[in-house]
Amino acid sequence: AADAVGLNLAEVAAAARRRLDPVHWDFFAGGAGNERTLRANEAAFARRWLRPRVLRAAGERDLRLSLFGSPVSMPVLIAPTAFHRLAHPEGEVATARAAADAGTVMVVSMAATRPVEEIAAAGGPLWFQLYPHADLEFTATVVRRAVAAGCRALVVTVDSPVFGRRERDLRHGFVDLPPGLVCENMRDADGRVRPIEMNAGVGWELIGALRGLTSLPILLKGVLHPADARLAVEHGVDGVLVSNHGGRQLDGALATLDALPGVVAAVDGRVPVLVDGGLRRGTDVLVALALGATAVLLGRPVLWGLAVGGAAGVRHVLDLVRADLDRALALVGVARPGDLDADLVTTGAPG
Ligand code: FNR
Repeated sequence: AADAVGLNLAEVAAAARRRLDPVHWDFFAGGAGNERTLRANEAAFARRWLRPRVLRAAGERDLRLSLFGSPVSMPVLIAPTAFHRLAHPEGEVATARAAADAGTVMVVSMAATRPVEEIAAAGGPLWFQLYPHADLEFTATVVRRAVAAGCRALVVTVDSPVFGRRERDLRHGFVDLPPGLVCENMRDADGRVRPIEMNAGVGWELIGALRGLTSLPILLKGVLHPADARLAVEHGVDGVLVSNHGGRQLDGALATLDALPGVVAAVDGRVPVLVDGGLRRGTDVLVALALGATAVLLGRPVLWGLAVGGAAGVRHVLDLVRADLDRALALVGVARPGDLDADLVTTGAPG
């Protein structure tokens, strides 16, 4: 039945659009401002061409790897996205079940609509995404809870000192979750739900403060500038995630694929570099890995799968990307994602 939802992620998106409340579709699909960055993320992949190698006797593919202590069946993870219960009644629990079945990591958003304990019970491995909050005591409460539930890494989102201006949501007057849904993991020590809060007053001291709270690996999400990638490594982060929040924060920020090579060069192999934004095909995954990413994350496609078929829909999305990546690897003559080389990718210019 899951096959009926689409032969590719664009078809899954179209099916999701038919099902979702248009207000919620726009919340998921939209970006900030003129949505230039939203479009640029996908367009950047369309500008890359593959230059495959032949007769390399690469043999059977092996997509497995280990990331920050979490074994994964492929270098494709689930990005943190808010409000899964808007897509499906089971919300993040369904997403987690699909991730576990597919053998990959789900990054649980701080704005999840199911308690992290219930998400963890559906399977793992899970990582937990955090927005830096002004109240360190509150942050500590949230982190302790995520750790106790079994989350294996912290993903700290640093591209959101303020909320991006999302005009689709403004047009609809969509400002908050409908009655009955809350950000279940935003509860303070007394069990009261705090609002998601952006914090423009936070600096690099954040990393040290988080180190004081947990020994989990810390990834920085939302790095585009090579200088920040260098600073992140100097401050001891365990991984850098190249992201522009799917075009939802700074409109005009460059496409993540275009930012990736600069960040990879700055990090210089000291920690893994991950990337998200606009990946819609296994060949997109291949290009990102060839340009130096250790793994990629999918945001919206997972929400489309969830809207269309719950856990089975998410699983379908992950299976499509896995099969597509496997085939693309074979067609460029590479067996293991780690063996991909930037030499396989060109912008089509002569040479
Ligand atoms: C997001 N993203 C996000 N990021 C984050 O750190 N915390 C969050 O709560 C959310 N919430 C969220 C909601 C929705 C609806 C979307 C589409 C995105 C950003 C997300 O992690 C990721 O960076 C992008 O979604 C990746 O781009 P694609 O795959 O959606 O193009």
